[in-house]
Amino acid sequence: MTKAVAFPQNRTCPYHPPTAYPRADEESPLSRVTLWDGRSVWLVTGHSAARALLADPRLSSDSTRPGFPLPTERAETVRRRRRAALLGWDDPEHNTQRRMLIPSFSLRRAENMRPRIQQTVDRLLDAVEAQGPPAELVSAFALPVPSIVICELLGVPYEDHEFFEEQSRRLLRGPTGEDTTDALARLEEYLGDLIDQKRAKPGDGVLDDLVSLGGADGGPDRDELVQLASILLVAGHETTANMISLGTYTLLRHPGRMAELRADPSLLPTAVEELLRFLSIADGLLRVAREDVEVGGTVVRAGEGVVFSTSVINRDAAAYADPDALDWGRSARHHVAFGFGIHQCLGQNLARAELEIALGTLLRRLPGLRLDAPAEEIPFKPGDTIQGMLALPVTW
Ligand code: HEM
Repeated sequence: MTKAVAFPQNRTCPYHPPTAYPRADEESPLSRVTLWDGRSVWLVTGHSAARALLADPRLSSDSTRPGFPLPTERAETVRRRRRAALLGWDDPEHNTQRRMLIPSFSLRRAENMRPRIQQTVDRLLDAVEAQGPPAELVSAFALPVPSIVICELLGVPYEDHEFFEEQSRRLLRGPTGEDTTDALARLEEYLGDLIDQKRAKPGDGVLDDLVSLGGADGGPDRDELVQLASILLVAGHETTANMISLGTYTLLRHPGRMAELRADPSLLPTAVEELLRFLSIADGLLRVAREDVEVGGTVVRAGEGVVFSTSVINRDAAAYADPDALDWGRSARHHVAFGFGIHQCLGQNLARAELEIALGTLLRRLPGLRLDAPAEEIPFKPGDTIQGMLALPVTW
């Protein structure tokens, strides 16, 4: 029995899993890790065990349940008090919330958004080219692309982006629990005002559609609307922004793979899927067992916390041959970068469209793109948040 390591760990390379976690092929699909408060919980690293557990209704997403594993003091402060819409609920409540949103996040809706996304990407790259080289790609490209797209989809004024980007940053990486609670309160106040305005004067975004469902006949009330708006706005831009920045960095560190993509852009959808697997930026899904569950020869007892390292799970050699290689030739399908089961990412169709357009256009328009600092010196995010680059200095 090896000694339990702390969870979460920082990555040593921004695109590889933290080296301290055991690989599934070395150990059983589950091992023990210790949280910041000293509690010991299960870490899932095996691919088939992860999919079995994520699809199992005996595991709960309710962050207010005793035993629910929270990876930081700031998450503890916020999520014990308030359950995020969708992500913090089990069925049947979760299903009621999710059903209202499915039409707005269908594959067809995402496909219809492609021309608008392309225009946004082109406009941002026009500005990058006009002002550079060099450029800092997180602020000039990776963050604004998904931020503009989610604003247009939801009906949130993009003029306010500095405000809500700042609150999301504090929510995900604020220094203390108090700071995080304050960021959540500000975001909720802003979205509450926006929803009141939409009640008075409806527009045509997803939030307007939700408002029009009305609170009286089973539609969401004001508080539920604020909770839904807040998760959609935060999840809608933070995650994709990190995939664009880390995806670009990873391509620049794999020039052979990048050249293949430039030579044959029809590889893009496969490449995006492989990058999602390879990078696994949402690296730490959280559950608590409501009943005893047996998996891979181990029994998870009722009340025990379970964390899933998507990066290690997506490098399980039993699921992917040569898992540490970035390879456009494989089918990365069945990765868990978007989760699995009832909480599987609602925005995945939109995220795929954004990533294909953002990365594909960047490679096409800037053929000389390269890092503008030594690769090892470029800062990336710590392990207790969504993984990605803090800055991405480039030139061309
Ligand atoms: C590449 C970008 C993205 C990644 C890697 C990602 C990853 C994930 C993951 C892993 C989950 C499941 C969490 C869990 O089971 O605990 C999730 C859920 C979710 N994602 Fe994403 N996401 C991305 C983009 C988006 C976008 C663009 C939206 C748009 C609004 C979005 C909205 C959501 C929502 C609402 C949920 C909760 C779904 C539920 O509980 O039913 N995500 N995402």
